[in-house]
Amino acid sequence: MDWNEDLEVEVDFMNDEHKVILSLMNNLYVIFKRDPQCVEFSETFFTLRSYTEKHFKDEERFMQEMNYSGFESHRVIHQKILEMFSKHVEYYNEEGEVEEGFFDFLTYWLHSHMNSCDSDYSKEYHQQQMQTQKNKLKVA
Ligand SMILES: [Fe+2]
Ligand SMILES: [Fe+2]
Repeated sequence: MDWNEDLEVEVDFMNDEHKVILSLMNNLYVIFKRDPQCVEFSETFFTLRSYTEKHFKDEERFMQEMNYSGFESHRVIHQKILEMFSKHVEYYNEEGEVEEGFFDFLTYWLHSHMNSCDSDYSKEYHQQQMQTQKNKLKVA
C-alpha cells in the first residue's frame, strides 16, 4: 500500500497522521511476512492500535472545532473501526497470532476511511476556508 493522491485530504496535519498510519501498516505487513511471531510484530501491532486511537481523537477534535456537519456519523464509524480492531487485538492476545482477514480489515479500513470519510470533512473544511476568504473580501 503506497501513499497516493486519492488518500490526500486538504488538511496538512491529518495527511501527516495518515502517512504514519500507512507506514505502520506497511511495516506490520513486512514483519508479518518475515516472522508473525516475533516481538517486533507485536510492538508494531500495538503501536498501530494506539496510534489509530490517537488519530481518531485528533480528527474528532478537529471536526468539532470546525463544526463539521457530518461529525456524528464520522464518529460512529471511528467507534466501529476501533471495536473491530479490539476484536483483532483480543484474538491476537489469545492465539498469539493475528486472525486471518486482519490485513483485509486494515486495507478496507484504510481505503474507506481516508479515501471517502476523511475526504468529506476535508472538502467541507476547504469550502469554509473559501467562504471566510470571500467574507473578508466583502468586508474590505
Ligand atoms: Fe483519518
Ligand atoms: Fe476519520
